[in-house]
Amino acid sequence: MQLKADQPIGIFDSGVGGLTVAHAIKSLLPQEKIIYFGDTFHLPYGDKSSESVRYYASRISDFLLEKHCKTVMIACNTASSSAFDEVVEHVADRAIVMNVVDPIVSLVSEKHADGRVGVIGTKGTINSGTYEHKIRQKNTSLEVISMATPLFVPMIEEGFIFDDISNAIIRAYLTDKRFSGIHTMILGCTHYPIIKRQIEKLFNFGVDIVDSGNIVANKLKRTLEEKGLMHTGKPAKHEFYISDYTPYFEKIAKMFFEEEVHLEHLNFWK
Ligand code: DGL
Repeated sequence: MQLKADQPIGIFDSGVGGLTVAHAIKSLLPQEKIIYFGDTFHLPYGDKSSESVRYYASRISDFLLEKHCKTVMIACNTASSSAFDEVVEHVADRAIVMNVVDPIVSLVSEKHADGRVGVIGTKGTINSGTYEHKIRQKNTSLEVISMATPLFVPMIEEGFIFDDISNAIIRAYLTDKRFSGIHTMILGCTHYPIIKRQIEKLFNFGVDIVDSGNIVANKLKRTLEEKGLMHTGKPAKHEFYISDYTPYFEKIAKMFFEEEVHLEHLNFWK
């Protein structure tokens, strides 16, 4: 199918966490129109079975295709880990499908010849073993230490950031001795950039803390350039949809997107 430059960029996540990726894309590619879908009706994905996440991801891809998106960006590590292949097959040539795991894996595997790399994420992402598997395929000399940090998402969503409670929770997970000697910590969840500074501080700024936002936005830019699909016209108005609505989501969306966001309620699950 012939894709066109003036089609929008489709992005989805389980909720508003993927807005950290949407924000990076908006900053790097301001002329592109974004259509964002946050599946708040099914939030969190981190505790769901991979079958369920695959089903949600395929249906949301259909929605983004109905909206004529030229890309389906899976801005969720949990869905990227368990549903990427299925979405690629489902979407076929109707859009470019991208995930948030592969660009990080490429960057880390190429930047470091060896040593120890930490990965933190939801239970779904960590239990899938996706990061270990993909890093090992590219660089067998890197040792990957992964840990599920399931309290981080509710902690961030409840606004516990830059305070004693969040510092205590971050410390409880990340001072685990398995992480001693790591040179890199991958933030394998699109919520975690919100607490990136706290994590950097915990490691005394001596560990490279890697999150997906800018890396994924740059990968998207290169892909659009290669395919001649960069939009050059005036920036259009972005659209944000969520499948379950409370004014609370609008409030936390501001934290993730770093500006006011008008969320439209659209639940095609019922
Ligand atoms: N933002 C999702 C991710 O990157 C985590 C939130 C959830 O559990 O749904 O994995």
